[in-house]
Amino acid sequence: MDGIKVPEHIAIIMDGNGRWAKKLGLNRIFGHRNGVRAVRETVETCGKIGVKYLTLYAFSMENWNRPSDEIEALMSLLIESVIKETSELDKNNVQLRTIGNLSSFPENVTVKLNQAIEFTSKNTGLVLTLALSYGSRWEITEAVKKIAAKALAQEIEPENINENVIEQYLTTYGMPDPELIIRTSGEQRLSNFLLWQGAYSEFYFPEVLWPDFKKKDLMNAIDEYRRRERRFGKTGEQIKQEKDLI
Ligand code: IPE
Ligand code: IPE
Ligand code: MG
Repeated sequence: MDGIKVPEHIAIIMDGNGRWAKKLGLNRIFGHRNGVRAVRETVETCGKIGVKYLTLYAFSMENWNRPSDEIEALMSLLIESVIKETSELDKNNVQLRTIGNLSSFPENVTVKLNQAIEFTSKNTGLVLTLALSYGSRWEITEAVKKIAAKALAQEIEPENINENVIEQYLTTYGMPDPELIIRTSGEQRLSNFLLWQGAYSEFYFPEVLWPDFKKKDLMNAIDEYRRRERRFGKTGEQIKQEKDLI
């Protein structure tokens, strides 16, 4: 990797755990358990190749509608993984963060998560953000509420509300937008993930189910990203000219 075109921020919708388990005639939970290995490998690779931000969609707000035994198993797995992985993350200089409506989580989960976040907060390497009970429409609605309250308190003039102001109220404030969003398992939808931040992301939808996602799949995604021409509304000719000038 020459490091030049490695995305600064990669976001992944980790999908296909249930189908992976079903193919083996096993319980969906088994799929989730095997997804942890893919998370580990992806985090390690991103750290090594110089990705600065990795955001993983681990549990959507809509996932609260799943059967309660699956939700309970996912919560236990989350606690277990956070406890098991924190020292390795720390060793690799990874800073853990979360985005989402954490208040909807059981207290034992948030306590463990906050401990891990605090423990790794001084790390300066990869920023690993877990999207947990996250929904983009919820996030934008919360931002609107806060800005409306500010306007009501006359702390901001409505005509001064611009994109930068809105971004300050999003949970991802301070992070660059993801250049690349990957969704595994062949599904081609966002499922309420980073709707604002993904406005200009490149999308990549490999067929591989999340528990089978390996380093080579990540590298394929980055290779594909490097071949894309990001035009941001301009013409291909303009982009070529700009490149020639560099
Ligand atoms: C993604 O895998 C993990 C979570 C949503 C928690 P799924 O559980 O959605 O797997 P499929 O889509 O049923 O295969
Ligand atoms: C979306 O996956 C959220 C995560 C991967 C955590 P789902 O598999 O729940 O999404 P839909 O409902 O099929 O779109
Ligand atoms: Mg799914």
